[in-house]
Amino acid sequence: MKYLIFLLILSLSSNLSTNYQLSKKAFAIVEGEYEKSHIRGHVIFKQLNIFNLHVMVHITGIPSKLGPRLGFHVHKNGILNPLANTTVRCESAGPHYNPLNRPHGNISSWKRHVGDYGNMVVHNGTIKAQFVDRLTRLHRPFNIIGRTVVLHEREDDLGLGADKNSKINGNSGPPIACGMIGVWS
Ligand SMILES: *[C@@H]1O[C@H](CO)[C@@H](O)[C@H](O)[C@H]1NC(C)=O
Ligand SMILES: *[C@@H]1O[C@H](CO)[C@@H](O)[C@H](O)[C@H]1NC(C)=O
Ligand SMILES: *[C@@H]1O[C@H](CO)[C@@H](O)[C@H](O)[C@H]1NC(C)=O
Repeated sequence: MKYLIFLLILSLSSNLSTNYQLSKKAFAIVEGEYEKSHIRGHVIFKQLNIFNLHVMVHITGIPSKLGPRLGFHVHKNGILNPLANTTVRCESAGPHYNPLNRPHGNISSWKRHVGDYGNMVVHNGTIKAQFVDRLTRLHRPFNIIGRTVVLHEREDDLGLGADKNSKINGNSGPPIACGMIGVWS
């Protein structure tokens, strides 16, 4: 009996440490072509504790005609078509990651897709941002490892528009760069 309890505790604790390992890190190399511009960068994710994921975004080469705010989301799948052009490659990651089947919204809203990060601000062709998100995680539930971060051509209306698409994709337009999220450590 004591042995069984010991085994139970051991399996529970190993489950906890694999599911909720703190300080776990992940990254995505983001790239895309937009007209003649090469958009390049990375996103670094660090799990601070069970609920708080620190996200650092650094992307350069964004053409001056775009912005100053661009929609940025975690999409459901990995990049299923890595050899295609930017549009097809990034669209192969599917829709916004939305396991709770909610309408689209801002990162700060309760009504949002799990993958909704809102807009990134562009300065001089560059996005340099960091924020903490309470829904996306590097562990279950809402694990984003193996999914894809996507930067879009237009500003995200954050679900506040009058049309149907506003509640689906925020009218942020086609993808201009993306990268699949992988384990770092
Ligand atoms: C990307 O490839 C698709 C399918 O091959 C094609 O329809 C589309 O026009 C291409 N887009 C660009 C910007 O080249
Ligand atoms: C969306 O959320 C961001 C981050 O919390 C906030 O800075 C911004 O004001 C929000 N936008 C709207 C329109 O609520
Ligand atoms: C603007 O971006 C370019 C290219 O990344 C860089 O060379 C330049 O120093 C930047 N200018 C400012 C004012 O940050």
